[in-house]
Amino acid sequence: MTTVLRLTPDRPEPDVIAGAAECLRRGGLVAFPTETVYGLGVAALDRAAVRRLFAAKGRPADDPLIVHIASAENLPPLVASRPHVVDVLAARFWPGPLTLVLRRSALVPDEVTAGLDTVAVRVPAHPVAHALLAAAGIPVAAPSANLFSRPSPTQAAHVLQDLDGRIDLVLDGGPTRVGVESTVLDLSRDVPEVLRPGAVTLDILRPLLPDVRLRAAVEAPGPQRSPGLLARHYSPRAPLTLYEGAPERVLERIRQDVAAAQAAGRRVGLLVPDDDAAVMATRLYAALRELDAAGVDEIFARLPPASGGLSEAVADRLRRAAAGRIVRCP
Ligand code: TXA
Ligand code: MG
Repeated sequence: MTTVLRLTPDRPEPDVIAGAAECLRRGGLVAFPTETVYGLGVAALDRAAVRRLFAAKGRPADDPLIVHIASAENLPPLVASRPHVVDVLAARFWPGPLTLVLRRSALVPDEVTAGLDTVAVRVPAHPVAHALLAAAGIPVAAPSANLFSRPSPTQAAHVLQDLDGRIDLVLDGGPTRVGVESTVLDLSRDVPEVLRPGAVTLDILRPLLPDVRLRAAVEAPGPQRSPGLLARHYSPRAPLTLYEGAPERVLERIRQDVAAAQAAGRRVGLLVPDDDAAVMATRLYAALRELDAAGVDEIFARLPPASGGLSEAVADRLRRAAAGRIVRCP
């Protein structure tokens, strides 16, 4: 049985938070809103509970989790070293949608890090997430609260679509503000690398980290540094084809392909928004779920123009959802 509890997003009810925190401390699985997407929380230092979380999501054990803490003051026990830049970044971006990958301490279980010698940590900005972490008083590992390879949830209803009956509690704090997952920044190596683009962009990071660079979405063959960053992820059930290129050429090509698909009796869903990237980010995952619910056979999507801000994150998630089905229109 999964319990759903509604909260006032800006002023979460203390009794609801206290109950959810107690559930976490006892090893329960609690979904909660963050400013990016809903997370599925579990006591990060409780190995058995973390294993239950992987089972509930159907997530492969080689995909490490982000540890969520209430404030940067809770970071030291989790990490083996803390370069000065961590304090600078934490002061500027926490709480907020930036995850830092750092060398881990022995406290963090292998179940959380998938055996890597690093741990990913962030301080979420949502009042519900903050209240929950503060009340629980423990580090909370939380992947996005979706079934493995489904789009991340941006509303409590999405969490229930995927996980009803598989988790203990959903805290419903309304729709999330950003809509795509946090920026993952790896500081464990010589050169800082963004492993997953998000709201904290390269342009925003560069003044503080002049040599920061974006890592290619798919690594060369060999051991994966972050298996969850493999191409196929964030996918709707229907295959998604992504169109890139000059807007008029893209629209022309999409029209042709829609006509051909319909002539073959296939139902097509279209994702051709005119919104700016921030609005598109808030709607992307809900739109993918709606198209799936409508029972379309395939989805055609247009890559948003590179306009800074969240456009890189939206493009990244669409490319992953397309899993290689990309049409370049010259
Ligand atoms: O916005 C977010 O980050 C959301 C909310 C709930 O906080 N969480 C989230 O978690 O997106 P998840 O598990 O869906 O994605 C975590 C990503 C994965 O791509 C994983 O591979 C990567 O972070 N990651 C976690 N630990 C890592 C590590 N030690 N080294 C490299 N990548 C890591
Ligand atoms: Mg996820």
